[in-house]
Parts: sequence; structure tokens; C-alpha cells
Amino acid sequence: MNLKNAVALVTGGSAGIGFSIAKTLGESGARVAITGRDKGRLDEAAKALGVFPVHADVSKEPDVERTYREVLAKFGDLDILVNNAGIGVFKPLVEIDRAAFDAVIATNVTGAMLMAREAAKHFIKRNRGNIINIASTAALRGAPNGTAYYASKFALRGMTECWRGELRKHNIRVMLVNPSEVLTNFAATAGFPQKASGGKLRGDEIAHAVKAILEMDDRGFTVEMSVFATNPED
Ligand SMILES: NC(=O)c1ccc[n+]([C@@H]2O[C@H](COP(=O)([O-])OP(=O)(O)OC[C@H]3O[C@@H](n4cnc5c(N)ncnc54)[C@H](OP(=O)(O)O)[C@@H]3O)[C@@H](O)[C@H]2O)c1
Repeated sequence: MNLKNAVALVTGGSAGIGFSIAKTLGESGARVAITGRDKGRLDEAAKALGVFPVHADVSKEPDVERTYREVLAKFGDLDILVNNAGIGVFKPLVEIDRAAFDAVIATNVTGAMLMAREAAKHFIKRNRGNIINIASTAALRGAPNGTAYYASKFALRGMTECWRGELRKHNIRVMLVNPSEVLTNFAATAGFPQKASGGKLRGDEIAHAVKAILEMDDRGFTVEMSVFATNPED
């Protein structure tokens, strides 16, 4: 697809990977909307990027429905949904509390589903569209302390396959991007330390991957792409 004048909606675009994706798509000529829960941070990011902010929580159905109303009122159309908003909780199984587990599933799974459902309704009507789900290498294999987060990303990967199966006949490309560790605020928000190093991934590499898979001619699509740091210890 040609990104020039395409309309892209990036959830969780106020920080980290989503911010980088919104920036790269905007620099490629797309008209971009971003969402986030913290209004101050969202408005600041939107101003810095020159994109359209929608103050919305992906886990809340009325917010999701309003997001599409606002984006369609602003741009009149939608070509791309990037399901990026995500949170993490990392605890041993015996220490997980129900509320924390539910919160991860509500944003990473239910939120992604609600956003994709509304995008798909629009895309089916116009007979084309793109959904990119930002999962993780946590969608590929389990690890200690990962119960909630890894379950959510396995679920997102599974939903991606279901949506791809349903939506291909409508010319809708459903794609999965699995970043390995990226330097963002994600770790701090999830409550664990992250060691920075020059070799670790930045949001820019993930944004590059997203742009690249979108720009392939619409006749084809990349089903899934995992992005690793070449030498994270460097
Ligand atoms: N960083 C990594 O190492 C890494 C690796 C693999 C995959 N990922 C995935 O990449 C995605 C982005 O992560 P990141 O590292 O960029 O995290 P981040 O820096 O913490 O940014 C997360 C973004 O999502 C927003 N957000 C969180 N919950 C939301 C909700 N319910 N509704 C709307 N917006 C919400 C946040 O804004 P508010 O808090 O204001 O809502 C923020 O804009 C996530 O899906 C994450 O699982 C990250």
C-alpha cells in the first residue's frame, strides 16, 4: 500500500513503541490518530507528532466505539489499525492476584479484540484494510513469571490467526509483529528494572518493521514478523 494520505490509528501512541510507529507513519505521509489513557501525555505526544489524539482506554467498549466515531469524523476513512496498547504484570504463579491478571487481559486481549472488531466492520464495508497486532516474542514461548503477560500475547497471536482466516476474503491484511525487548517505559511501568545498552532495540526498529510490512503491495502480506536485537549485550 501507499502510506501517503492513508489513515492510521495507533493505540497506545502516546509513548514507547506506539509513539515511534505514529511518528514513522506520519513521516511517511499517513494521517495518524493515537490513543492513550493519560490525557496530558497523550496531548503532549500528539502535539509533538502533529497527529490527532483520542483520549480512550482500549479495554472500555464505549471508549472504543467513540474512538472510531472521532477518527472517522476527523479523517472520513480508516486504512490501518495498529493494535499496540499493552501492559505487563510479571509475578510467579503463586503470587498472582486476580485483579492484576484481569487488567492485563482486559487491555492486551479484550482491548485488542474490541479495537479490531470495530476496524473490521469498517474494513469489510470498504473491502480493504490493514490490522497490525503488536504482540511480543512472549507470544512464541513461555517463561517464569510470565503467566499474565505471556498468556495475553499467546491469545493475541491466536486471535490474529482467527481474524486473518475470516478477513482475507475482504482484502483485509491481518499481520502480527513480535518485538523482542525494546527500551521503553514498559518495564518501569510493569515494575521491573531494565538495563539499557546501545545494542537493545528502540521503538524505531519496530516502527521500521510496521512501515515495511504495510508498504508491500496489497496483493501480498507478511503474516508474522519477529524483531530481535542483533546483539543486545553490546
Ligand atoms: N517494551 C518491550 O520490551 C516490548 C517487547 C515486546 C512487545 N511489547 C509490546 O509493545 C506494546 C507497546 O509497549 P511499549 O513498550 O511501547 O510500552 P509503554 O512505553 O509502556 O507504552 C504503552 C502505551 O500504551 C498505552 N496504553 C496502555 N494501556 C492502554 C489502554 N488500556 N488503552 C489505551 N492505551 C493504553 C500507554 O498510555 P497510557 O498509559 O496513558 O494509556 C502508552 O501510550 C505493548 O503491547 C507491549 O506488550 C513491548
